[in-house]
Amino acid sequence: MAQTLPAVKLKNGEQTFGAAPHERPVPRISIAAFCEFPDTGAALQRAASDRRLAKAHVVVELGGVQAAVDHFNGQVTPNLLIVETKMQGKAALDDIDHLAQVCDPATKVVVIGRANDVELYRELMRRGVSDYLVAPLNPIHLIESIANLYTDRDTQPIGRIIAFASARGGAGSSTIAHNVGWYIAEKLKIHTTIIDFDLPFGTLGLDFNEEPTQSIVDALAAPERLDDTLLDRLLVKVTDHLALFTSPTLLERGYDAEPAAYESVLEAVRQMSPCVIVDLPHVWTPWVRQTLLSADDIVIVAAPCLGSLRNGKAFFDILKPNRPNDAPPRLVLNQVGVPKRPEIPAKDFAQAMGVEPSLVVHFEPQLFGTSANHGQMVVATQPKSQVAEGIARLAEALTGRAPQTSGNKGVLPFFSRLKGSR
Ligand SMILES: Nc1ncnc2c1ncn2[C@@H]1O[C@H](COP(=O)(O)OP(=O)(O)OP(=O)(O)O)[C@@H](O)[C@H]1O
Ligand SMILES: [Mg+2]
Repeated sequence: MAQTLPAVKLKNGEQTFGAAPHERPVPRISIAAFCEFPDTGAALQRAASDRRLAKAHVVVELGGVQAAVDHFNGQVTPNLLIVETKMQGKAALDDIDHLAQVCDPATKVVVIGRANDVELYRELMRRGVSDYLVAPLNPIHLIESIANLYTDRDTQPIGRIIAFASARGGAGSSTIAHNVGWYIAEKLKIHTTIIDFDLPFGTLGLDFNEEPTQSIVDALAAPERLDDTLLDRLLVKVTDHLALFTSPTLLERGYDAEPAAYESVLEAVRQMSPCVIVDLPHVWTPWVRQTLLSADDIVIVAAPCLGSLRNGKAFFDILKPNRPNDAPPRLVLNQVGVPKRPEIPAKDFAQAMGVEPSLVVHFEPQLFGTSANHGQMVVATQPKSQVAEGIARLAEALTGRAPQTSGNKGVLPFFSRLKGSR
């Protein structure tokens, strides 16, 4: 299945990292689609269930242009009307003229046809049609076409969100997420923000030896105020390329931010950070589910035990069908080979899950313990270790990038938008 490429081309031809403007989620609009052929109906349904269209309300009907005309005669038309015509040339144009008589001026129209006909395309555009797509449709192209209608072409790319979750508490997802984030920032020179959403128990500050006075909770409390200035105050800039959004890790109060607040924080951070690493707590709440379903990439970290296997399968069972146009989540098998502990062999684990792990990390208490105690990353302190090499390959696979040998100054003036520097 097609996966969106991490490389995004800017208008000046420069390559940068992030999600392209057309990959932005489609806003809360109403869409009605009237198709003629079953394959178009299937592609529309598949697009409708995509995470980028999660906010849009989509209705798919049969009957093509004529059914749309009958349906909307005397009715208000939706924000976007998608109609399929089986006609060609002049007959197709007559169909669309007919539709124009029932269509509100504010409604955008996308036409689907079978003919790859430039003349027809031009005539449709002249009539104010927003796009003409030639069937059979690829759901991703359809989503792109819709997203383009609601995105200003001059908009800067937004960041890619990579979400990490553990299949079992303590499996190591935070550790892997922080190491991957560090490598992407420092070795791949992609400006990265790591967000710790484990509000009471998160370890991001500890892992990087930082004790900020403000935290992600300040952002969650007032997401509507999150502009560059507030982000500047709340983010901890570790290096030119790496910023942290730490958790408060205080138990004096409970944390009950609105689910929408998590989404707003992510939206704000991805406006200025090409790569956003999200460290999720091991809980299952509506906002965790939503964050995973809407992420650009997902990494599930599991230990080679029965509990991880059961939960890992549950993650894949919910995530795969609900993200039909995305690559499946990646699996990391961590803490393999704990002495004297019986475990499920990696091969059997992979077979039972139906997915090959993207990375297998051995249990290395000395390495991880020392790094944690010094507030350093394994990939930084022991870059030649097998663990660090594995984490580096995972980071490269997630970004589609390899380290550059010299002269790499990064790709976007990212943190330059933030005033403070350390
Ligand atoms: N491969 C490994 N070998 C040895 N120790 C490890 C390994 N991976 C992680 N650890 C250690 O295991 C502990 C738990 O790791 P971590 O906090 O990353 O897990 P988690 O899945 O995020 O846990 P939680 O469910 O609490 O969020 C940490 O002390 C970490 O240093
Ligand atoms: Mg964790």
